[in-house]
Amino acid sequence: MAFVKLAETSELSDGQMVMKEHGEREILLAQVEGKVYAIDNVCPHQDAPLDEGTLGDRSAFHVTCPWHDAHFDIRNGKVAQETDWAEDIASFKVEMREDGIYVEVDG
Ligand code: FES
Repeated sequence: MAFVKLAETSELSDGQMVMKEHGEREILLAQVEGKVYAIDNVCPHQDAPLDEGTLGDRSAFHVTCPWHDAHFDIRNGKVAQETDWAEDIASFKVEMREDGIYVEVDG
């Protein structure tokens, strides 16, 4: 595992999400209250792209899947209890550095 730069700090502000590719993996970056979080971008239910969903519907820290409304906590990838048709999703450590947003990923 290594930290890889995935975005410029200027690409995100509070309440925003952006999808970044790393190899074959799609990673969703989301900023809430000045902090950036990273989870897999692909919904484990039926592979919807979470960057096309919404951030902040259930709580400030939840992203809602655009297809069947599963909610995921961007801080840890956990699916909300009431939308248990989806499973937990991978989450990644994020470091905000002077020159950008780094995410700990494979390779
Ligand atoms: S594809 Fe995300 S909840 Fe169905």
